[in-house]
Amino acid sequence: MNAQELRSKYLEFFKSKGHTIIPSASLVPENDPSVLFTTAGMHPLVPYLLGEKHPGGSKLVDVQKCIRTGDIDEVGDTTHHTFFEMLGNWSLGEYFKEGAIKMSWEFLTSADWLNLDKNRIAVSVFEGDADSPFDQEAYDVWKGLGLPEKKIAKLPKKNNWWGMEKGPCGPDTEIFYWVGEPNKIPESFNDDNDLWVEIWNNVFMQYDKQSDGTLKVLEQKNVDTGMGMERILAAVNGLDDNYKTELFWPIIEKIEELSKLEYGDKSDEEYIKDDKQCWVDVRKQFRIIADHIKAATFIIADGVVPSNTGQGYVLRRLIRRAVRYGKLIGIEKDFATSVAEIVVQEYSNHYPELAKNRALIFAELKKEEEKFRKTLDNGLKKLEKCLSNPERNVQYKIEDGLQKQADVYFNDDIVSLLFFDLYQTNGFPIELAMEVVFEEFEKKGVSLNKEKITEKFNKLFEQHQELSRTASAGMFKGGLQDSGEETAKLHTATHLLLAALRNVLGEHVFQKGSNITSERLRLDFSHSEKMTPEQLAKVEELVNAGIEANLEIVREEMSLDEAKKIGAMGVFEAKYGEKVSVYSIVEGGRVVSREICGGPHASLTGALGRFRIQKEEASSAGVRRIKAVLE
Ligand code: ALA
Repeated sequence: MNAQELRSKYLEFFKSKGHTIIPSASLVPENDPSVLFTTAGMHPLVPYLLGEKHPGGSKLVDVQKCIRTGDIDEVGDTTHHTFFEMLGNWSLGEYFKEGAIKMSWEFLTSADWLNLDKNRIAVSVFEGDADSPFDQEAYDVWKGLGLPEKKIAKLPKKNNWWGMEKGPCGPDTEIFYWVGEPNKIPESFNDDNDLWVEIWNNVFMQYDKQSDGTLKVLEQKNVDTGMGMERILAAVNGLDDNYKTELFWPIIEKIEELSKLEYGDKSDEEYIKDDKQCWVDVRKQFRIIADHIKAATFIIADGVVPSNTGQGYVLRRLIRRAVRYGKLIGIEKDFATSVAEIVVQEYSNHYPELAKNRALIFAELKKEEEKFRKTLDNGLKKLEKCLSNPERNVQYKIEDGLQKQADVYFNDDIVSLLFFDLYQTNGFPIELAMEVVFEEFEKKGVSLNKEKITEKFNKLFEQHQELSRTASAGMFKGGLQDSGEETAKLHTATHLLLAALRNVLGEHVFQKGSNITSERLRLDFSHSEKMTPEQLAKVEELVNAGIEANLEIVREEMSLDEAKKIGAMGVFEAKYGEKVSVYSIVEGGRVVSREICGGPHASLTGALGRFRIQKEEASSAGVRRIKAVLE
């Protein structure tokens, strides 16, 4: 069965049960700042789950495109994706547990519909806790359908409860499908066995979670279901890997062509059994690239472009990660657009917005990939240098009374400093810096104590916090921006801005104050008149020219006297004898900017994006204030 047939069958089945087919909403939620992306089919339906009337009636069905970055670490296996399609049906105060479960069962197992083997199906129901009781009703319905008790697991909230931070929520029943060999179907369901793949979730939304965490019983009892399109397509076609379905296979073939490597057709387990873990690793890289470029293509088609905040930041991270993984399998030239081409080709029938935005998608991918390749190459050179000089890090052990070389050993300090440097100086996003460092070391057979290193890095990072308000290694998961990286860029932009102001307004301009958040910069400077629109435009133009020239930001340490001698500007409050850091931006021998400063800064101005002045106003007598952003 192909993807389009499956989508149609699903819609048709629920239509035959009185549901209205509704279109997929955008990946970017309308009027809802609480999430960055549509993460489930229910998301655009929240007002209706809370009681508002839906124009389509009280039974709905759709195929919704979704983005979930919460599972990003799982992407690389056979079943997790950041972009996926969710087949969903809803009852707004109509059928409840019995109706929902019976329809799911019929669709999955009836010979008229998917005709899946009943023996390969197991389920879980909510076991109950202080908030809500054991879901006896769901349990009884499953039993009544003939499911053996051993295949009806009772699990806690962690597994069998669905909802968001607040709003409609409730216990759910999850349906699993055995993707292992048909003659090895276990008698009972085991949550720890990855061969039981969750294919469908039926949520019984009977509560409205309040901001304080309490559950308010909903007057209207709703059903919200979600079936993973990629997983069910694999199941229906007897495939052990979603990437072997037509939703991925043409993309995988393209990556094979680009990397000149093979994905292979055995299962991961078989390769591992044959002692071919390296093969599985390559495969994971294929999957991550395919997943991320597909997600990026869909996100751009819904109007988001790479940037440093919100959805744009998630998009940027997906593209950068794909480029990085491409490099690992030997793809050096720009490739994101050729992979996206396949995505557009394969999905445009069902999602015409892809073909419509083809030019935008390719232009944005190309720009981002080119920019990131430069950053990556610089950072990797630095890493290589460190790795090629391991003598001072050799550790010895005593074995049989003899001293032997144990391993090439990099102490934790060296490594944590290294990735702090990659992050701070080379503009690697934190998580990527960690990933790259750990992988490069592993490739050389050097094992590292990741926990210790992460701990040390976090300490270094904390020491740095006066500029980066909040950040943690998990930020990408929440879809939030990496504010450390952001502030570094805004800091560099502030230097360019000061230089441009002196150029346009005169040498009387000095910095009087600066404040940087992860979203904007604010610079106070000596000047007594309001700036004209022409002057503002000229300043913006100069800063952007500096960015486009992709100039290096060079840091040097020297004494305060030396700094003054070479004309560095800044607040001269270092104590006698103390070294200061001087950051210089030089273009073709001409010093554009030179300031005494604590950093951190971007490594290249090209990483900054587009500079835009938001506001120019008076700050105090003789001092003006500019607020500006990088876009
Ligand atoms: N909203 C439910 C889920 O995403 C169906 O699993």
